[in-house]
Amino acid sequence: MKQLTNMNVQIVSDKQAGGKAGFQVFENALQNGAKVLGLATGSTPVTIYEQLVASDLDFSQLTSVNLDEYVGLSADHPQSYHYFMQQHLFNAKPFAHSYVPDGANLDAAAATSEYDQIIADNPIDLQLLGLGKNGHIGFNEPGTDPESTTHKVTLTASTIDANARFFDNADEVPRYAYSMGIGSILKAKQILIVAYGEAKAAAVAAMIQGPVTPDVPASYLQTHPNVTVILDEAAASQLD
Ligand code: F6R
Repeated sequence: MKQLTNMNVQIVSDKQAGGKAGFQVFENALQNGAKVLGLATGSTPVTIYEQLVASDLDFSQLTSVNLDEYVGLSADHPQSYHYFMQQHLFNAKPFAHSYVPDGANLDAAAATSEYDQIIADNPIDLQLLGLGKNGHIGFNEPGTDPESTTHKVTLTASTIDANARFFDNADEVPRYAYSMGIGSILKAKQILIVAYGEAKAAAVAAMIQGPVTPDVPASYLQTHPNVTVILDEAAASQLD
């Protein structure tokens, strides 16, 4: 059997169990003094956020920093990632400060350098990630520079298709996003990446057992010393 690198891989029965396992990682991080939480959107983190909302954890002295945001959507747009975070976590569990890239700022140089400054001022203790079918993390698509900081991304056709389910049709999905870079993500002290379902199985195997390569942005997590991976059996099905 091939060594599963140094990542701590946990296999759970379903998304609900994944929510509980993910919650445990957050609770432990808070007990160990975490002050800045890096957060993600998409369907994967939802059960973790449900557990956080139902818990008695208090975030009112903490800071959150989100991975990414669509360019052109303001914070109050129902499909913006900012709005998603309000609905799934912030309304119930407010943080002292919550940062999401400013999608309404169309000046990419200003929006991205402002966000890099926010990350520098608030070093991330625990970063939560979902995984794209193509191996992306944040909106760092295959080919992204592993040392990248926050940048403007042109979304790939596969990501636009995957995200079209949240919009009336694919034409309404923004074509650009601001995303933390792979380099920004790797600076987090601890990383939790979660994936569910057969559609993620190939990306999971490439992330954990494949070569470290720009073709699979998540494979750079092999170079980080403290990564926990939570998978259901379908997502783990292509691991040795
Ligand atoms: C979301 C993000 C993306 C998603 C990924 C998986 O903030 O940065 O990388 O984590 O696309 O999306 P879901 O969870 O919807 O399968």
